[in-house]
Amino acid sequence: MAENKRLLLGVTGGVAAYKAAEAARLLTQQGIDVTTVMTESACHFVGPATFQSLTGNPVYTDLWETNAMQNMAHINLSRTTELILIAPASADFIAKLANGLADDLLTTLCLARNCSLMIAPAMNQQMWKNPATQRNVSMLRQDGAIVIGPADGLQACGETGMGRMLEASELAEAVHSFFHMEKLFDGKRVLITAGPTFEAIDAVRGITNKSSGKMGYAVAQAATEAGASVTLISGATCLAPPPVDKLVSVTSANEMLQAVLTEIPQTDIFISVAAVADYRAAKINPQKIKKTDQHLTIDLVANPDILLTVTDLPNPPFCVGFAAETENLEQNAQTKRKKKNLPLLIANQAQDAIGADESELTLFDDAGKHSLTKAAKIEQARRLIQHIHALYSQSKPTSHEKN
Ligand code: CTP
Repeated sequence: MAENKRLLLGVTGGVAAYKAAEAARLLTQQGIDVTTVMTESACHFVGPATFQSLTGNPVYTDLWETNAMQNMAHINLSRTTELILIAPASADFIAKLANGLADDLLTTLCLARNCSLMIAPAMNQQMWKNPATQRNVSMLRQDGAIVIGPADGLQACGETGMGRMLEASELAEAVHSFFHMEKLFDGKRVLITAGPTFEAIDAVRGITNKSSGKMGYAVAQAATEAGASVTLISGATCLAPPPVDKLVSVTSANEMLQAVLTEIPQTDIFISVAAVADYRAAKINPQKIKKTDQHLTIDLVANPDILLTVTDLPNPPFCVGFAAETENLEQNAQTKRKKKNLPLLIANQAQDAIGADESELTLFDDAGKHSLTKAAKIEQARRLIQHIHALYSQSKPTSHEKN
């Protein structure tokens, strides 16, 4: 699967650099073409000759290297690779990456890349816990980087805690699943709804909910990484949109429904992440409603259920629902899955998940219940995409695919 793939291995300063050498050996054995770039401090831990011997490729260390083949190395090296893996990624290097610094060959080519970035942090447990590091890692995740590890355990400095880099075999496994994931949804058209809807009451007010759009955007990012052609229909959010093929911005549930119905004939998989308002004002006052001393009653009517409308179509695509519950998670989720006739429903505790960067998910499908322990939403989204792919591949082809 990973044969003919090209990986750029970035090694920064840390004792875990020796594990990167073993990872380079394993990856090369798997048929991956590994090119190594080392920072100056990395060279204090392991010599470039080690990586050169293990990978059979030249090792780059200097931004000013005048190698004719690698003229403009800071751009070219990142153009000819499908993935950059930084292992070990030191706290200092993570801080530079998060802030877009480019003061050596490795930082420069990370900034100039047009491929995915995976980082394997390695540092003292106190450095890992430091809010500055956590902030930087969170920024990198938001920018789409894949963060693997660190692990918990005894550290080279004698302390114990989070900060150990993953083992070489785990790094190789992560790269392997990245290359596997890359093609999962090749040629598939995935439609995703995200964010809240806003139902106007008058010219300036409305009904909405606390959905941030983070989970839906993460699912869109992960589906894109898996090679799908993604259309994202989004309510208003404060987020930068992920790199999808088509973005449709909507406000109300009815607008979202129309946008979804327009896209459905070209959709293989529909993932309904949006927090759709269940009710809207029966009448929208064109002017601002003026304050009085009297009680004000707003008459609400039910909004359409977008997901149910789609699953009720004669030939629906493969549909996945989400459920935000505040109580009786399992029972409510199972009832929803049945009512909406879904092969997969993903449930979470609304109080913990809404607006947060991390979530804990429970998946309900025909095989039963699966738990995804707390992790960054982008990581959960990548796991979900793999799970959706497994279910989708076993499902009967829809009429969309036959066409
Ligand atoms: N959904 C939808 N249209 C609606 C309401 C919900 O498409 N009008 C979708 C959501 O995107 C989600 C799933 O249905 O995938 C479940 O949404 P949720 O708000 O958890 O449940 P509801 O069906 O609205 O039920 P309740 O609010 O009573 O929990």
